[in-house]
Amino acid sequence: MSVSDQGATVWLTGLPSAGKTTIAYALAERLRAEGHRVEVLDGDEIREFLSAGLGFSREDRHTNVQRIGFVAELLASNGVKALVPVIAPFADSREAVAKRHAAAGTPYLEVHVATPVEVCSERDVKGLYAKQAAGEISGLTGVDDPYEAPEAPDLRIESHHRTVHQSAAELYALLDQRGLV
Ligand SMILES: Nc1ncnc2c1ncn2[C@@H]1O[C@H](COP(=O)(O)OP(=O)(O)OP(=O)(O)O)[C@@H](O)[C@H]1O
Ligand SMILES: [Mg+2]
Repeated sequence: MSVSDQGATVWLTGLPSAGKTTIAYALAERLRAEGHRVEVLDGDEIREFLSAGLGFSREDRHTNVQRIGFVAELLASNGVKALVPVIAPFADSREAVAKRHAAAGTPYLEVHVATPVEVCSERDVKGLYAKQAAGEISGLTGVDDPYEAPEAPDLRIESHHRTVHQSAAELYALLDQRGLV
């Protein structure tokens, strides 16, 4: 098996607008250019299909993360780099996904895109922080819904101190260190 056939799941957890999707696609582009098979399991698309009907209660968020983790592991165990830019606010949900990977012997990396909420709410790509502030929505992760930051991620990216290119390069370096690229 060549290194380009080595699958792995890379989960990017962090607040809304932290930069998870942006960094994941930047990494995906580089990996694809090098001949790796890559899938990006993005939160929004997944919610439209695989997790249609689930809401944002603790239980539904947990179910959403387990479903995504299940698919990511299937892909990763078949030679795909599965990049998962999904908030995954609860430590126990992430732990369950990590354990599923460990049980199957599939590499799993947890990456915290650790952008402070002040910066995220400035970026506010989807206008959610503004809507929450205006009282139009509630249950926004990191504002009026919990976000349990990972205590010991494989990598913490301070996206507010990096360009997108630098963040993707840090992530690539981690994969390289672990013998995954
Ligand atoms: N240094 C940076 N690193 C990453 N993103 C940045 C940076 N500076 C500005 N941005 C911008 O911040 C936004 C981050 O949005 P993105 O959709 O990637 O966040 P997300 O974490 O996927 O959020 P969500 O959980 O809502 O999907 C993008 O518009 C991106 O261009
Ligand atoms: Mg996103």
